[in-house]
Amino acid sequence: MIDLRSDTVTRPTPAMRRAMAEAEVGDDVWGEDPTVRELEEETAGLLGKEAALYVPSGHMANQLGLYVSTRSGEEVWAHEHHHLIGDEQGATAVLSRALPRLYSDGTAPPEELLESWIAGRGDIHRAEPALVWLENTFTGRVVPLAEQRRVTGFAHRHGLRAHLDGARLWNAAAALGAEPSEVADGFDTVSVCFSKGLGAPVGSALAGDADTVLRARRGRKMLGAGMRQAGIIAAGALYALRHHRERMVQDHERAAELARLVTELSGLDARARTNMVLVQAPAGQGARYAEAFARHGVAGLGIGDAVRLVVHLETTDRDVEEAARKVAKAAVEL
Ligand SMILES: Cc1ncc(COP(=O)(O)O)c(C=O)c1O
Repeated sequence: MIDLRSDTVTRPTPAMRRAMAEAEVGDDVWGEDPTVRELEEETAGLLGKEAALYVPSGHMANQLGLYVSTRSGEEVWAHEHHHLIGDEQGATAVLSRALPRLYSDGTAPPEELLESWIAGRGDIHRAEPALVWLENTFTGRVVPLAEQRRVTGFAHRHGLRAHLDGARLWNAAAALGAEPSEVADGFDTVSVCFSKGLGAPVGSALAGDADTVLRARRGRKMLGAGMRQAGIIAAGALYALRHHRERMVQDHERAAELARLVTELSGLDARARTNMVLVQAPAGQGARYAEAFARHGVAGLGIGDAVRLVVHLETTDRDVEEAARKVAKAAVEL
């Protein structure tokens, strides 16, 4: 089976495992794990922020990002398909008790919408807005930096904060030929993942100014995620950060080639966005198409009207060719 369900399915490489086995560790709850500290400092540096906090998952990094910038009942402005909204079990309501105000189109809220939302601010019936949320990449799509600047500029002009869900910020930077700090620029907080395209086994980080990250550190402890000798896993993340960022353009090239071959061999409409390929299916048939692909040896994820195929660290050129041939065989049955 060629597993293209997600870039989270990768296993640590032998070199990464060696780095993990040899990691210097200490008790990180007391701030004494040198490897975790190194990872946090290096991540903050790459993102152009004062500090960063290592956390077990992107989900937690996002929830802490929400926690440090909202009070109970305040609004977070987001897209209805952001991970924060649809894929974190309604934690926005449970942990920070923030109220999402949602838009549905595009990769960033249009200026007119932002203006209309802020216009109602003084109305006593309305919740107070606190935070604007963006995601880059957003289901593989790169959000242009000018769009990000427009939104963060708006947020700050109106005294709101801005968070970037950068679970795949490294992909966005690679696709744009930009530094990670350029993609993170203008955001008060940024979450990034080491366990996706970078291929580390565990972990994410939340970056921001030192005070904000200290609040997040307290929040992490409150949630019971103070980790002890976490350097073992942080070493995998650090290795990935140092050795796997540059190669991400290869994933994007392979995804483009996969989309091209799938279209050519199967006649299906397949489009690449960074490391993801979306194969179009008729309305609501994504899951049925994914089942057909799986029967022929390609694991993808059926999402609504499409099957998502994600190219990652373990995907080779040969996998790309084989996967396209298998999808073409499946297409005959569809
Ligand atoms: C955009 C985005 N944000 C956050 C997350 C959450 O990451 P984790 O699975 O590490 O909790 C994901 C996971 O796929 C994601 O795609």
